[in-house]
Amino acid sequence: MMQAEYEFDVFISYSSKDKEWVRGELLKRIERAGLKAFIDYRDFRPGAPSIKECERGVEQCRKTLIVLTPNYLKSGWAELENIMAQTLDPANESLRLIPLLKARCEKPLRIGALTHIDFTDGADLDLAWRQLLAALGKRAVSEPPKEPRRERWFLAHPYPMPPHFTGRVAERAMLNRWLESDAGHPLLSLCALGGFGKSALVWHWLTHDVQPGDWPCIVWWSFYEGDSSFDRFLAEALDYLSGGKIDATEISGKAAVRELVQMLHEPGTLLVLDGFERVLRAFGGLNAAYQGDEAKHENQDRDCISPLAEFFLRGVATLPDLRSKVLLATRLRPRVLEAKGDRLLVGCRDVELEQMDPADAVAFFRAQGVRGTHTEIEAACEPYGYHPLSLRLLAGLIVSDLQHPGDIAAAESLDVSSDLVQRQHHVLLAAYDSLDLSRQALLGRIACFRGPVGYETLKALAVPGTLSPDDRGGASGQEGKSK
Ligand SMILES: Nc1ncnc2c1ncn2[C@@H]1O[C@H](COP(=O)(O)OP(=O)(O)O)[C@@H](O)[C@H]1O
Ligand SMILES: [Mg+2]
Repeated sequence: MMQAEYEFDVFISYSSKDKEWVRGELLKRIERAGLKAFIDYRDFRPGAPSIKECERGVEQCRKTLIVLTPNYLKSGWAELENIMAQTLDPANESLRLIPLLKARCEKPLRIGALTHIDFTDGADLDLAWRQLLAALGKRAVSEPPKEPRRERWFLAHPYPMPPHFTGRVAERAMLNRWLESDAGHPLLSLCALGGFGKSALVWHWLTHDVQPGDWPCIVWWSFYEGDSSFDRFLAEALDYLSGGKIDATEISGKAAVRELVQMLHEPGTLLVLDGFERVLRAFGGLNAAYQGDEAKHENQDRDCISPLAEFFLRGVATLPDLRSKVLLATRLRPRVLEAKGDRLLVGCRDVELEQMDPADAVAFFRAQGVRGTHTEIEAACEPYGYHPLSLRLLAGLIVSDLQHPGDIAAAESLDVSSDLVQRQHHVLLAAYDSLDLSRQALLGRIACFRGPVGYETLKALAVPGTLSPDDRGGASGQEGKSK
């Protein structure tokens, strides 16, 4: 074959079910690296037969990138595209076909034989992007310097992520879009009741999707840790971002907030404030960790305890030209973000985090070692409203079931009817009160009680050894706790 002049660098072959990641991230990264991509939704000529356009894509691009996922393997079009690419270079000598493994799946033999680039959960994504750009012919010299790395981030209270975080693909894509291309909203408030997976999502996203090259300065702060008042956050964030040059104890609180907001005018900083409800009146008390969400909150309950926190939020949500970003994960939206009518301050967006996707819940159960059909697992999860914390607990109980460990049938004996809920609620209070301070702190860290939670729950949540059976009844007269 003649050494062809190609009009494009890469044809992206993918399943439309994976379009969120492909268009939202993959395409952007490829084009940002200066490569010319050809992609169906934008580059197919309207009205031309799709099969012709696929052919044109494959022929006119130096490489064909296939995004392998279970969806891809199910899609007939995608198969056609990669067969065309292989026909042009059957032994893949010029490495014309590049398989990118986005989610684990059974690859057909003719693709399985080629080495793929690993983008699955848990893979080294920095490495994967480098490999991908190199395979597409991007010379390493023109890569941006990779120096600012995650080690330079200030993760004050790393989230103790239990195994098998699953799904939340659309939410991760939403966060990516907000971070990368929503210049009008420097502040995002991610809201949901306790246990809906706010912290887990944001932590997973931060550590997997946020690129340290673009975001060299990150602060992750959880308001459930020891002394993690807003003042403390302010002082430590300023110290980190100024490289030790600004000492918040030497200036007034307001001046400190002004300095911090001033720094957000420069690009490259993301502040994540997790468990922000703790800064609000409604959850400011010592026992916020086990406080239910069911209480009706008056408007003033959504005011910040610290006037500095309000001053800060108002600044971020109203000042023009902020190029850095602030993300709140919170059970309640702070009232200070609201403008007149039902509107929010101009620079603020709010997003409600919803239940887990049922298919992801099934995948999660299987990963946790629960056996059952798709339908059986869904039927067990449904009564819990696909609430991630409840699902994690349920899966834990099923796996440790005495009679049928791991069998989904065990779910049936775990009833969620309302009198049981009542009973469990009391068990929770008793159990909480019997804990010593470090164990209460553990709960504080987990900080995810949505309301009624039983003793079994506490056990399933605890790090092994943190809660022993002895903790159960023995109210050992700790610090006065109010009810
Ligand atoms: N996508 C997910 N996959 C698996 N487990 C999850 C997922 N989201 C949340 N969880 C689990 O649910 C529990 C509560 O999540 P968390 O993020 O702490 O809730 P929130 O911050 O909203 O109160 C945690 O044990 C967490 O591991
Ligand atoms: Mg949380």
